[in-house]
Amino acid sequence: MNPSSGFLRFLHIILLVLAFCVSDGAYVPSDEILLDCGSSSEAADADGRKWLADSTSSKTTLTSKDSTPATAVFQDPSLPSDVPYMTARIFSSESTYRFAVNKSDRHWLRLHFYPSTYNGLPPENSYFSVSTGDGITLLKNFSAYVTAKALTQAYIIKEFSILPSSDGSISLTFTPSDKYNASFAFVNGIEVISMPDIFDQPAQLVGFSDQDVEVGTSAVLTMYRLNVGGQYVPPNNDSSLSRTWYDDSPYLYGAGFGVTFAAGNDLKLQYPEGSPDYFAPTDVYQTARSMGPDPKVNMNYNLTWIFQIDANFTYIVRFHFCELQMTKVNERVFDIFINNRTAQEQADVIGWTSETAVPMHKDYAVFVADQPGEDQIWVALHPSVSAKPEYYDAILNGLEIFKVSDNAGNLAGPNPEPSALLAEAELEDDQPGFESKPNGKLHIITRAAGGAAVASVALAIFLVVYQRKKRTDVNDSAGGNWLPLYGGNSYTGNSTVSGKSTASSHLSNLAAANCRYFSFPEIKKATKSFDESLVIGVGGFGKVYKGIIDEGTKVAIKRSNPSSEQGVNEFQTEIEMLSKLRHKHLVSLIGFCEENGEMILVYDYMGHGTLREHIYKSNKPPLSWKQRLEICIGAARGLHYLHTGARYPIIHRDVKTTNILVDENWVAKVSDFGLSKTGPTMNQSHVSTVVKGSFGYLDPEYFRRQQLTDKSDVYSFGVVLFEVLCARAALNPSLPREQVSLADWALHCQKKGVLGDIVDPLLEGKISPECLKKFAETAEMCLLEHGVDRPSMGSVLWNLEYALQLQESFESGNPVADEGAVKPASAAGDGDSFVAGSGTGEEADALTTTAVFSQLVHPTGR
Ligand SMILES: *[C@@H]1O[C@H](CO)[C@@H](O)[C@H](O)[C@H]1NC(C)=O
Ligand SMILES: *[C@@H]1O[C@H](CO)[C@@H](O)[C@H](O)[C@H]1NC(C)=O
Ligand SMILES: *[C@@H]1O[C@H](CO)[C@@H](O)[C@H](O)[C@H]1NC(C)=O
Ligand SMILES: *[C@@H]1O[C@H](CO)[C@@H](O)[C@H](O)[C@H]1NC(C)=O
Ligand SMILES: *[C@@H]1O[C@H](CO)[C@@H](O)[C@H](O)[C@H]1NC(C)=O
Ligand SMILES: *[C@@H]1O[C@H](CO)[C@@H](O)[C@H](O)[C@H]1NC(C)=O
Ligand SMILES: *[C@@H]1O[C@H](CO)[C@@H](O)[C@H](O)[C@H]1NC(C)=O
Repeated sequence: MNPSSGFLRFLHIILLVLAFCVSDGAYVPSDEILLDCGSSSEAADADGRKWLADSTSSKTTLTSKDSTPATAVFQDPSLPSDVPYMTARIFSSESTYRFAVNKSDRHWLRLHFYPSTYNGLPPENSYFSVSTGDGITLLKNFSAYVTAKALTQAYIIKEFSILPSSDGSISLTFTPSDKYNASFAFVNGIEVISMPDIFDQPAQLVGFSDQDVEVGTSAVLTMYRLNVGGQYVPPNNDSSLSRTWYDDSPYLYGAGFGVTFAAGNDLKLQYPEGSPDYFAPTDVYQTARSMGPDPKVNMNYNLTWIFQIDANFTYIVRFHFCELQMTKVNERVFDIFINNRTAQEQADVIGWTSETAVPMHKDYAVFVADQPGEDQIWVALHPSVSAKPEYYDAILNGLEIFKVSDNAGNLAGPNPEPSALLAEAELEDDQPGFESKPNGKLHIITRAAGGAAVASVALAIFLVVYQRKKRTDVNDSAGGNWLPLYGGNSYTGNSTVSGKSTASSHLSNLAAANCRYFSFPEIKKATKSFDESLVIGVGGFGKVYKGIIDEGTKVAIKRSNPSSEQGVNEFQTEIEMLSKLRHKHLVSLIGFCEENGEMILVYDYMGHGTLREHIYKSNKPPLSWKQRLEICIGAARGLHYLHTGARYPIIHRDVKTTNILVDENWVAKVSDFGLSKTGPTMNQSHVSTVVKGSFGYLDPEYFRRQQLTDKSDVYSFGVVLFEVLCARAALNPSLPREQVSLADWALHCQKKGVLGDIVDPLLEGKISPECLKKFAETAEMCLLEHGVDRPSMGSVLWNLEYALQLQESFESGNPVADEGAVKPASAAGDGDSFVAGSGTGEEADALTTTAVFSQLVHPTGR
């Protein structure tokens, strides 16, 4: 690089920084009218926003022959605030609100409806349309009652974006539908807020290379607004544009969830010079979803979201991108499909922005024809094969879908159909003997769903959730029934009200479906109000208690420390992971509790505790070599299953002797999935999340390159193998320097051929020399410098099985006294499959494969 280009680059950075500072000045709306309809005085809502009474506002006039203010009789507990929902204005004939505004700007127009009984009028009777002075139909034959019921929401917010009339006004005409007897119109709140022109670029019409769609003067209805890979963002956290952003996970199709990640704390978004920062809040750009670590897996699926929409309209689909990991062109390149058509080939975010952490968005337009079955928008991402990128992967940070008014100036669609799910839920609600659960869940969703800003959002969720539910095919009635409802919690707004997002709100339906929900009182009872004498473990997350549920079943109850920052994520990960995985050598999750701000997990009780306490630093009787081998084999099976048995490889990330538990039958089970990932994060060092795992077990390659692969678990498992052999800690700072790290020291001894010197003295003379050789070689291979050179978990397992056979034939010539104490892990009833599973987590074809496998391994034949 020559000096002048270096200087230019420096200048460029300065400019970027300046631009960043300047753009931080943020957009200030010139109009911000919040109207509390039917109210007589000014009042503030829960977020502290001031709403004016519609009878006193100076910027508003109401023209109506029959308008009456009213107060709702019933206050639904899910309303975020009295204002503006508890008061309404009722119109029994055509009536018009007129707002004086700055005519040069587009405006948000948000209509708030709370269908309730007003002045004795039943809400079911209300059907009406709303149109603007410029003849745009916003709503037609609209029933807030039907819509809210279909979505199981207490209230509805519709967000439009419109241009004022040329006289500098926005007028809204409410017309009760004349087709229905005694129909009336009503509205609880109206927001009119100026907005920047976020539709200034034409969008390319998908499927037509040469056609663009310009929003121009059209009116727009927001259908979906998602913080992909991130959390719910409430309106007061979205600069001055007061938008609401929802979690995208409810819309993901199938099991291909990809992986989510966030920018490191030190990563500052860099807005290009002169470009505004209001297209999406920083939260949106700082979190993302990608496809996952395994290029082969990624090549075989599309990362897909599905949205329910009204047919016969054009939609603008806006993609928000901000590359948080890659730094170079052609590292992550992908194709974008909308409704099975290619919207963009070879999308390369770095190619567009030239740098990491630069936010950008891209708009595509799609027309959804009115044909049977065409009421969805599918958005799919797939690695670009033609670009031959370095990583076969894709990324997305945010997604918005806007409906554009048609040529007739119409934006209105039909009222949503009450979903089958709702009918089901109501049915359930009436059933005796179900009291707490279904009611509770229904309550959660009503509460939660109340926060939804866009009515159709929830509808689509319901449809998708319902479809998913059908697919998961849950038989257990108690679990099955409440799940979809619980899943529906996602978009909601429990978080709206409290401002705090909850873990369960991000659980997939499947996760919820496979585990039981415990109430806090149940947990308290099980642990005798968290009696200290029942504590069986303590970690960074909090304490583990031994407990009794269902009159006699022993369980381990992990109560997360509420102050732990990472808690919520790890809590979710653990539930997500464990609920999908059932395997003899993985600890099973029985259920969870999330109440009173508590995050509690309930597992099978492991009678014999951790592997470590049977090897050193405890007064437990030491395990025989064969017992140790069998436990290692069990753990290897569990890990092998994680890597290959599930649909996508799962990397444990924290394999160590304290995360290998032993039940009362001495069956080893891998535990603690709090750090697990379904893929490497491929982070660049400066944007990476902290390297996680435990020192002494950390794969040096992962540490160096922050590339997490299944071979990182293999490395950690190699350390476990040496730990079991040498009966010492992975790290022991009290030893001479060269011996501190077991991995280094054991490798050193192995190379020098003196490994025998550091083997647990209690095992002296008890290990068959061939077995020791095989075992040590296997452990050594696990610790190889480069992940690619290390064996797979399957191969490690094979070698350990082989070592066990060597030991058994050695012992059969030299019987060992204490052998009867242990039920061999690989003996009868071992429903474990060696060959990669079917992906369903079943352990079906087990026996046969194990048998074949054992024969294969058996050195002496049968
Ligand atoms: C109207 O908006 C334009 C552009 O946002 C601004 O320059 C102007 O000052 C505004 N006028 C009033 C009266 O607020
Ligand atoms: C419907 O309208 C008819 C007359 O037009 C009236 O007699 C009847 O009471 C109305 N029904 C209801 C339910 O208001
Ligand atoms: C909203 O912003 C506040 C203050 O900036 C922050 O503490 C809070 O975590 C944010 N909430 C969300 C959901 O982003
Ligand atoms: C896209 O293709 C999938 C699978 O071929 C199909 O199920 C789906 O209905 C299609 N979506 C649209 C909107 O055409
Ligand atoms: C991904 O979606 C595109 C467009 O619908 C389709 O052509 C392709 O076959 C899909 N790929 C996979 C692996 O599902
Ligand atoms: C679709 O919309 C157009 C207006 O853009 C309208 O004329 C036509 O009747 C609509 N078609 C159907 C089937 O609703
Ligand atoms: C109005 O909406 C109701 C409820 O969705 C529906 O049954 C009715 O057919 C609609 N009427 C018209 C004229 O579209």
